[in-house]
Amino acid sequence: MKQSGLVVAIVGATGAVGEEMRTVLAEHRFPVSRLIPLASERSAGTHIEWRGEQVPVEVLDDDAFEGVDLALFSAGASISERYAPKAVAAGAVVVDNTRAFRMHPEVPLVVPEVNPEALADHNGIIANPNCSTIQMVAALQPLHAVAGLKRVVVSTYQSASGAGRDAMDELRDQTVALLNFAEIKTDVFPRRLAFDVLPHIDRFEDDGYTREEHKMVNETRKIMGLPDLPVCATCVRVPVFIGHACSINVELQRPLDVEAALDALEAAPGLIVQRDSSSYPTAADCVGQDPVYVGRVRRDPSVEHGLVLWVVADNLRKGAATNSVQIAEALHAAGALA
Ligand code: A2P
Repeated sequence: MKQSGLVVAIVGATGAVGEEMRTVLAEHRFPVSRLIPLASERSAGTHIEWRGEQVPVEVLDDDAFEGVDLALFSAGASISERYAPKAVAAGAVVVDNTRAFRMHPEVPLVVPEVNPEALADHNGIIANPNCSTIQMVAALQPLHAVAGLKRVVVSTYQSASGAGRDAMDELRDQTVALLNFAEIKTDVFPRRLAFDVLPHIDRFEDDGYTREEHKMVNETRKIMGLPDLPVCATCVRVPVFIGHACSINVELQRPLDVEAALDALEAAPGLIVQRDSSSYPTAADCVGQDPVYVGRVRRDPSVEHGLVLWVVADNLRKGAATNSVQIAEALHAAGALA
């Protein structure tokens, strides 16, 4: 007899996001009848824990998606490009946490608190946005709803885990090595990250911006349905293990005082607002938490109708696994999963 619930595959189940996907599926009591953890040959023979049992990790191949209802992908863009269409052909709905399909016109790019309506129309693949973009649009949406966005300038402070498990290990090893006057190795990051900050995430493009910065501009416009919104981003890697922060300067179309902005943010789903400036959120506060935290909301006197805010979230959670699971929950509630 078929167990009630859905067959869920996690592609990249042994990675930093994949592990969090499993945790969030369990915490949210997503109806899983069978979990299939998929990874590379490097993980063959290993197990992951699921509901108190040891489940063998399977090697990703063309036949891995037979009988799968939902496939959560987080193993890099090239893996998604190759295998997501195969998963869809096998009858699964894919929620993809890589950049592979985000800007494809027929693929919805969704933050459920911002544009859930985009889920109504898809061809089997739904894209999960870039981590910093998710937390930024979650905070921008309620301000846009009451006063209209005119321009956004953002600087990010992004943790090592955004670059995966090897990146976290590299930050740890560099930190230990430096404190012990030993030689350091730099393989994952472009330069030493320990005790430094790097204005360099993903590759540089011809215009002097990085691809991560382009993602923040283009994905924000797509998610918010504002194709001409002026957005300028500077993305910075900081020596923090988990949790991304953004300092966001928002220029609005209409006046909105700080108290009204705080009220709008507080009323929005998925946000926790710290009204008192001195009790600002930090990356460490957010680890293991689903919400997006907003603090230090204040007037930006350098422009008309300007506000500044500090927005922090666990990049592995709301920036990746939680948002993917929320997309799956919304699809399931709409009867769009088998
Ligand atoms: P593996 O652990 O077997 O290498 P992270 O984002 O933390 O770096 O994790 C990347 C995830 O993607 C891991 O689960 C990793 O599996 C998986 N992965 C990387 N390359 C492949 C591949 N060629 N096929 C399947 N999974 C892959």
